Amino acid sequence: MKILEVKNLNVWDIHTGRIIVHNTSFKLEEGRCLAIVGESGSGKSVTCRAIMKLNKRSLQQTGEIFLKNEGLHQLSERQMRRKRGKHLYMILQNGMTAFDPSCVIKVHLQETLQTHFDWKEKEIEQKMIQAMESVNLKNAKELMHKYPHQLSGGMLQRIMIALALVLEPDVLIADEPTTALDTISQYEVVEQLMKIRQNMKSAIIFISHDLGIVQKIADEVLVMKDGEVVEQDDTQTIFVNPQHEYTKYLINTRRALSDNFKNVMRESLYC
Ligand SMILES: Nc1ncnc2c1ncn2[C@@H]1O[C@H](COP(=O)(O)OP(=O)(O)O)[C@@H](O)[C@H]1O
Ligand SMILES: [Mg+2]
Repeated sequence: MKILEVKNLNVWDIHTGRIIVHNTSFKLEEGRCLAIVGESGSGKSVTCRAIMKLNKRSLQQTGEIFLKNEGLHQLSERQMRRKRGKHLYMILQNGMTAFDPSCVIKVHLQETLQTHFDWKEKEIEQKMIQAMESVNLKNAKELMHKYPHQLSGGMLQRIMIALALVLEPDVLIADEPTTALDTISQYEVVEQLMKIRQNMKSAIIFISHDLGIVQKIADEVLVMKDGEVVEQDDTQTIFVNPQHEYTKYLINTRRALSDNFKNVMRESLYC
C-alpha cells in the first residue's frame, strides 16, 4: 500500500529567490525504506522538513504531499501538529536539539505521547521502559529522569528510536541519524533502525551520505544533486548498474575509499 507520495515539490528562499528543491516527486510504500543520498547541501534535509512542513518561514514550498491519500499540503499548522509524532516522526541528526534542555527526558516523552494517546503516566512509563530496553538502553527508568545534556549523543538517538517504537508512525524520517556519533554508536543505532524495520509496518526515509549503511538498510535509493532528483531505483540496481554520472561518481568514490581502507589494513598487517 502507498503510504506517502510527494508530487512536484518545489522549495525556494523568498529572500534570495533561490530554488533549493526543484520539482521533486517520489512514492513510498508501507514497510519500505527509501534512502535519500547526495552530497552536503543537495537539499535532502529541506525535502524532509518540507514533508513535515517544518522548514523556516523564509522557505516557501509548492507541490502536493499525500500521507495515506490525505493531502498534507492542504492542512493548517494546527492540523499538521496532530500529524507530527504519531503519523510522521523525524529522528534528527543531533539528539541534543530534539529535546528541551530545560526538562528531564520523561517530560518530553510524556508530552509527545499524551498528544496522541489517551495513556496515563504509569502506562507511558511502562511502554517507554520496554522500548528503551529493546534498544539496549540500560537503567531506562533512571535515564528518563536525566536532562538531555547528561546523556551521550548515542543515548539520545536511541531514546528517539525507542519513542518511535512506541509511536509506530506511518512514516519515520531519519535524517543522518548517525553522523554525530562515534563508530560504535553508529553501528548500534543502525542495528536498532533495522529492528524497527522488522517490527513495524512504518515506511522509512533514511538520509545518509554513508553508502555502506544505505546498501544495508534501504530498499530504494533516491539520488539528489543541487536540489534535483537525478536518479531513483531499487538499491540493488543503483549499486550494480547506476545510470547517472553523479550516481556513478558517488559509488566509485565509496569503492575507492573502501579499497584504500583495505589496502591500509593489509599493509599494517604485513608490516
Ligand atoms: N533556512 C534556510 N534558508 C536558506 N537556505 C537554506 C535554509 N536551509 C537550507 N538552506 C540551503 O538549502 C540547501 C540545501 O540544504 P539541505 O537540505 O540542508 O542540504 P543537505 O542535502 O545537506 O541536507 C543548502 O544550500 C542550504 O544552504
Ligand atoms: Mg542535511
